[in-house]
Amino acid sequence: MSGEVKAGEDTSRAPRSQKIQQIPAMGDVSQMIGGQITVNIDGQDVRVPMGTTLLDAAKLVGVRIPTLCHHPDLCVAGVCRVCVVEVEGQRALQAACAFPVTGSLKVKTHTRKVRQARRHVLDLLLSTHYGECYSCKRNNNCELQALAKEYGVDFYRFGHVTESQYPKDESSYSVVRDMDKCILCRRCVRTCIDVQEVGVLEAVGRSNKTRISTYLDKPLGDVVCINCGQCINRCPTGALHANDTSDEVWRAIDDPKKHVVIQTAPSPRAGIGECFGLEPGTPMTYQLNTALKLAGFDKVFDTNFTADLTIIEEGTELLLRLYKALVKKEEVAFPQFTSCSPGWVKYLEHFYPEYIPNLSSAKSPQQMFGAVIKTYYAKLNNIDPKDIVTVALMPCSAKKFECNRPEMADSGVKDVDYGLTTREMAQMIKERAASWKPRCARSSNWCAASRSRNCSNTRTSSPCAGLRACATSSCRSPP
Ligand code: SF4
Ligand code: SF4
Ligand code: FES
Repeated sequence: MSGEVKAGEDTSRAPRSQKIQQIPAMGDVSQMIGGQITVNIDGQDVRVPMGTTLLDAAKLVGVRIPTLCHHPDLCVAGVCRVCVVEVEGQRALQAACAFPVTGSLKVKTHTRKVRQARRHVLDLLLSTHYGECYSCKRNNNCELQALAKEYGVDFYRFGHVTESQYPKDESSYSVVRDMDKCILCRRCVRTCIDVQEVGVLEAVGRSNKTRISTYLDKPLGDVVCINCGQCINRCPTGALHANDTSDEVWRAIDDPKKHVVIQTAPSPRAGIGECFGLEPGTPMTYQLNTALKLAGFDKVFDTNFTADLTIIEEGTELLLRLYKALVKKEEVAFPQFTSCSPGWVKYLEHFYPEYIPNLSSAKSPQQMFGAVIKTYYAKLNNIDPKDIVTVALMPCSAKKFECNRPEMADSGVKDVDYGLTTREMAQMIKERAASWKPRCARSSNWCAASRSRNCSNTRTSSPCAGLRACATSSCRSPP
């Protein structure tokens, strides 16, 4: 091989895929920043700003490219290769989520070669995936399962692990880690570092020994995890899920000696409809209360009551602090922070302990509610607090941790016994209150419009948006 370099010859050692992007025909690249480029995707031209990924360009022309490690909230990882596409002039398939457009391109997203490659990726992921779908928390709600179905994966081409490789980590009150189901997409890692700025998860090891781990492989309950559950929200498989205490709640409901009281936060009332096929945000307050009674709870209360108590307590505390600072000229920590969010409180405790004095000493609405029920309510109804079980339906998995903090037991027993998420409650309702369906608030019949997702009249007395679809006479007439 001669050592001579011809004029204009590209001697860089950059991978071929990257060299192709240095398209000389573009001229001065700096002039192109912010410029528009035409990309041809499956025969359709689309003009996109330079730097747009092929994945986003495809979305603009309505072409769906499957993804796994990609998530719109997170930075690009490009590790799963499920999103590969054919780019004209390039030998290797390219990951659409990690390929920024820097010149005119022709792209094919669903050729035979592409589909086969995606299928092999799925086969490989499934070959190390321990467990059966039907016994998984995420059955029918798993991105890997959905893609395997879409690509017709109906047998384990590369085998299948038949024994668990990792012990389940159930040490956290909020998050269960089942690494046998992990596909190493690193969405949890990026969430924990980039979104939550906590960073307790990281990929360790190399090649087929890579795994997601905590600091020194410690259980999640022993590291500085703030229990926020944001990693669960973005995990595409059943590798992360909330620590579900619904079994304990069922046990209490089935025990005739126990008086089971539930409080519901505002958010689950607006979110639970989604679990029953309604539009996100459909208000379900009345319907949910009915379902909770059908499920067997003795009393159903609204957390809004103790949210008001919290405001009064925190406001009073602020006035006292101001009085001490301004009148008595004492040293007082300002500003005063709310202590309503257990994730935020734990974040502060771990990362900014110097600001702990700034936290309000008032309990959160969830914990105030538990204390009121186990003291005032118990006395009013002549029930031994030990026989009362308080459950909190909350939108946040950190609430499960909060109710287990040792200081949250003013009456001598735990203020709140169990925290449940919206998803867990939906599952409980499906199990026990099978006859419950979202009802029209203005009619005693099932609302046809509501079932077809069009009815927005789930709580108000305003005219039903689905009047024409509703067969009941009360809905036909104005309120
Ligand atoms: S629960 Fe929050 S802090 Fe804990 S690992 Fe998940 S994202 Fe990180
Ligand atoms: S735990 Fe879930 S989000 Fe994290 S890498 Fe594994 S599959 Fe991805
Ligand atoms: S979604 Fe593109 S590489 Fe994973």
